[in-house]
Amino acid sequence: MKRLRLGVLASGGGSNLQSIIDRSLDGSLQADVVVVISNNSGAGALKRAVNHGIEALHISGVTEGSAEAADWKITEEMKSRKVDLVVLAGYMKKIGDILLGAYQGRMVNIHPALLPKFGGDGMYGMNVHKAVVAAGEKESGPTVHIVDSQYDHGCILAQINIPVQPDDTPETLQKKVLEKEHIIYPETIKKLAEEWQE
Ligand code: GAR
Repeated sequence: MKRLRLGVLASGGGSNLQSIIDRSLDGSLQADVVVVISNNSGAGALKRAVNHGIEALHISGVTEGSAEAADWKITEEMKSRKVDLVVLAGYMKKIGDILLGAYQGRMVNIHPALLPKFGGDGMYGMNVHKAVVAAGEKESGPTVHIVDSQYDHGCILAQINIPVQPDDTPETLQKKVLEKEHIIYPETIKKLAEEWQE
């Protein structure tokens, strides 16, 4: 079976990246992370990549001089490594048109709420959990979806519903949803890897 080549974009701690690396290493995911790129030089995700001998690159509008130049550079780094699937794992920057065009239908994102609710501009990280709790939602959970030109909009591939308890805070909810993210993201990539064999 051909192993999928993954290029991961991440801005933060990288616990989702870690869950993918772990499944790749234990043999349950037929895919390898071949590069991790972050807009944030201090991202834990870059350290995790280095710890596993994976190439780790810091690319941003600041390092490249403009958002367009960063978009071009990220696309080149993905293409030159023959990346099959671009994986957004807590990436907090808008995806540029060049990368989107090069990886149409081959880029996935994980969002910490049940899309189409609680998505869109400004809805990331803890903001999402605060909004879910404030709205008195009875359930939440992660969504994995294909990335298109609109925030949190592309075709939904998988979701896990978990109950929101009356005493849940944004912090407790974040923890519960993140645990499910670590299950659903490698599983969804595994399914794509299997589908793409055909
Ligand atoms: C995750 O909860 C992910 O769903 C969220 O950022 C966190 C990253 O955690 N992504 C978004 O909000 C994107 N809209 P991690 O760095 O530990 O993987």
